[in-house]
Amino acid sequence: MVQHPKQANTIRIGVKELRLKVRGRYCFEILVLLVYSLLYHYIHQYIFATEVNHDLKRKSVSENSLEHLDNCEMGKIKPLQELSEKYKPSKFGYHPATKQKSYLHNHYQTYYPQWLGEYRTKKFKFLEIGLESGQGSLLWKEYFPCAEIWGLEYNTNGTETQGARAINVVQGDQGDTEFLNGRLLEDSGGNFDLIIDDGGHHFEQQAASYKALFSRALNPGGLYIIEDIETSYWGKGEVMYSKSITRGGCSNQDTIVNRFKKVVDVINKKFFDNSYSVFGSVDHWIQQISFAQNLIFIRKKSMKDCIHEVKYRWSKRLSSDCPANRRNNFKDQRLDRDLKLMCSS
Ligand SMILES: C[S@@+](CC[C@H](N)C(=O)[O-])C[C@H]1O[C@@H](n2cnc3c(N)ncnc32)[C@H](O)[C@@H]1O
Repeated sequence: MVQHPKQANTIRIGVKELRLKVRGRYCFEILVLLVYSLLYHYIHQYIFATEVNHDLKRKSVSENSLEHLDNCEMGKIKPLQELSEKYKPSKFGYHPATKQKSYLHNHYQTYYPQWLGEYRTKKFKFLEIGLESGQGSLLWKEYFPCAEIWGLEYNTNGTETQGARAINVVQGDQGDTEFLNGRLLEDSGGNFDLIIDDGGHHFEQQAASYKALFSRALNPGGLYIIEDIETSYWGKGEVMYSKSITRGGCSNQDTIVNRFKKVVDVINKKFFDNSYSVFGSVDHWIQQISFAQNLIFIRKKSMKDCIHEVKYRWSKRLSSDCPANRRNNFKDQRLDRDLKLMCSS
């Protein structure tokens, strides 16, 4: 049969200009196939994203399901200052032996009511790294009566105190990434809303714990606190928990303080440089940081932060010495997979 030229469609493919002649009667079948493939793709994506988002929402205790229990009435919970006088833990300035208030650079009751007050009457999961005398654990138990409290401690002395027995304890090394991603998560179940690092205080340990736990063990909207950052300023050879500082000091760019100073540009990388990173993919999850004397507070992003995950509309107004000024810089921003999934709903 002779084919009339007008009955054929011509499609150009690639540089080789391969001409594919498709007879008019096949157009309908091809169209159906295309629509079917597109539908399959979008339905699959929707189901996958819904499952993950459901999981993330379920995990986001801080945001969605803070339950007020009967025994958590604010009136029954003593203020932090009163509890610090009762238990006298070192983090609130008390010398472990003399019980005198001698560590005034650790007077965290100055800052904590502002950051932790909202958790007092709530049901949530809390992890503290470093238990020592256990006085801190007893204090937290009374300050957060509805919390499920976990402690991470590597020293057997610290896992057998009255305070340790009052909470759930996992014994291990906070600098061991394999342990943090493995046994700690398995035993505790993760899903923490608050994590306080009061462990070995070596910057390598602080960074290892932060990198592993902030992204994987902390719920969206959760709060991560690093205590005793004074050690970032200590000199080489100083000993903490039987371990010497190998590379200390103000000029060492690897200390936890110097690394978190750079996080200011991570949070603002849309204006600075979208490919900029300090700790790797965990950076994508930082909503805000705050420094206080001897403390860093880091808040994790939650669903409400997804609105910011868009291109900066005035990139042309950025200075030419800011890499984000480049037109395609937004493409450099590789979102963390889980963050992308959380924001895709
Ligand atoms: C400052 S004390 C904790 C005080 C406690 N949070 C309180 O408020 O009472 C530090 C604790 O961290 C523990 N520690 C030191 N290095 C550690 C590591 N690499 N992993 C886990 N715990 C560690 C020490 O054994 C010690 O008990």
